[in-house]
Amino acid sequence: MFLYLSFLLSFSLVLAKHEMYDGHSLFEIKIQDVNQIELVRNLEVPLQIDIWTYSQMDKKAVILVPKKNLEQFQDVLNRNDIQYNVDVDNIKRLMDEEDRLMDEAKKGSERSGTARIGFDRIYNLTEVYTYLEEVASSYPDLVTLVNAGKSFEGRDIKYLKISTTNFEDTSKPIVFVESLLHAREWVTLPPTLYAIDKLVTGNLTERSVLDKIDWIILPIANPDGYEFTHVQNRFWRKNRATGYMINDICVGVDLNRNFDANWGAFSSSNVCSEIFHGRYAFSEPESKVVRDILRTYGNRTKMFMDIHSAGSMILYGWGNGVLVPNALSVHTAGIQMAVAINAVKTSWNPNYIVGNSALVLYQASGLAMDYATVADVPYSFVYELPQHRNSAGITIFLVDPALVQQFAMETWEGILAGAKFVRDIYT
Ligand SMILES: *[C@@H]1O[C@H](CO)[C@@H](O)[C@H](O)[C@H]1NC(C)=O
Ligand SMILES: *[C@@H]1O[C@H](CO)[C@@H](O)[C@H](O)[C@H]1NC(C)=O
Ligand SMILES: *[C@@H]1O[C@H](CO)[C@@H](O)[C@H](O)[C@H]1NC(C)=O
Ligand SMILES: [Zn+2]
Repeated sequence: MFLYLSFLLSFSLVLAKHEMYDGHSLFEIKIQDVNQIELVRNLEVPLQIDIWTYSQMDKKAVILVPKKNLEQFQDVLNRNDIQYNVDVDNIKRLMDEEDRLMDEAKKGSERSGTARIGFDRIYNLTEVYTYLEEVASSYPDLVTLVNAGKSFEGRDIKYLKISTTNFEDTSKPIVFVESLLHAREWVTLPPTLYAIDKLVTGNLTERSVLDKIDWIILPIANPDGYEFTHVQNRFWRKNRATGYMINDICVGVDLNRNFDANWGAFSSSNVCSEIFHGRYAFSEPESKVVRDILRTYGNRTKMFMDIHSAGSMILYGWGNGVLVPNALSVHTAGIQMAVAINAVKTSWNPNYIVGNSALVLYQASGLAMDYATVADVPYSFVYELPQHRNSAGITIFLVDPALVQQFAMETWEGILAGAKFVRDIYT
């Protein structure tokens, strides 16, 4: 009886967890031109739609629509002759499925020893920070843990410096990899943890990328947002900054619109928008941390990789569509990374596309990627990891734990190809 009750209780807790998304539907829409992009963008705040991905080439845009605005949204699409289909009629069903799969994976999950982390599921903030501390204390000659500052809510922002020469050989190039600037993009975390694991355990096919390059790895760039996705709202993207609005009806800044690179040009000044750019460039502590890393190490950092989700793309600047001056060489590096990933990716995901972010995707401003270019990093990229889908329909931001190892491994192949490119030019 007690077991039965506690089963019911835990079951209802799980169900209660994603209540706010009950009946929200995921639409796929075919956008034909920039006017339609503009039209959909203008619906974001009034209809509280959440644009997950934009369409590019033959792909469709994916948009989450709240239950209460389903009819109105469909009306607008119909009136403007925009083709669409409802891909998932109730997203909560898939959120509960993700929880179930993660819980199951957690049961079988044993830490394989101190200073190791699994690639069998998504680990939360506490678990990742414990891992980073263990790595630093287990490999003191190789790894330095840096508490780079506090988030808006006062959490530490931690990154690792990995170097065979304690960062003291200033002739070495630096490669800087970051994930989870956008909180809900959970699948971007395993690749940076995998990079750490590969480098510190020395399980490398090319040892020279460790000997000749210094690494900065920042796995959780937005700790408040990331924690929030675990405890409250799985689809939270921004940081958790308050004070932008009376009664904080809407909170949070899109950190990847808050950098001082063409700030404010292609983003939103409305705090209720998912692409709200903040009060001014670097108004947010989390983007300041990344800025300060780039300011401190910018003249040695030769490549920056900002890992996002989703769409199987490797993108470079500028975000407004103007090509960076060394675009040809940047494109070459991008192609090498894409080819390396494509060689080991699953057959059911498309090949990576490489290109300027505005030409491939859409115009954007205030990007970390562009600020790295401003800070003199010659090779700066955004990765958009694959838009995977499992047989139950789990897709985009939701993660099937069974695929974590694969995405960590294949993304690492891209990072490694980038590091080799840097090695060959600068050492
Ligand atoms: C994070 O994971 C640990 C270990 O599994 C667990 O004890 C803790 O409650 C989790 N924290 C959150 C916020 O879910
Ligand atoms: C070394 O890496 C390979 C994949 O490249 C992996 O299969 C293997 O488990 C790793 N070994 C250790 C000890 O982590
Ligand atoms: C890089 O910056 C550091 C600190 O400002 C300075 O000491 C160093 O000389 C610079 N290196 C190059 C190659 O400009
Ligand atoms: Zn993102």
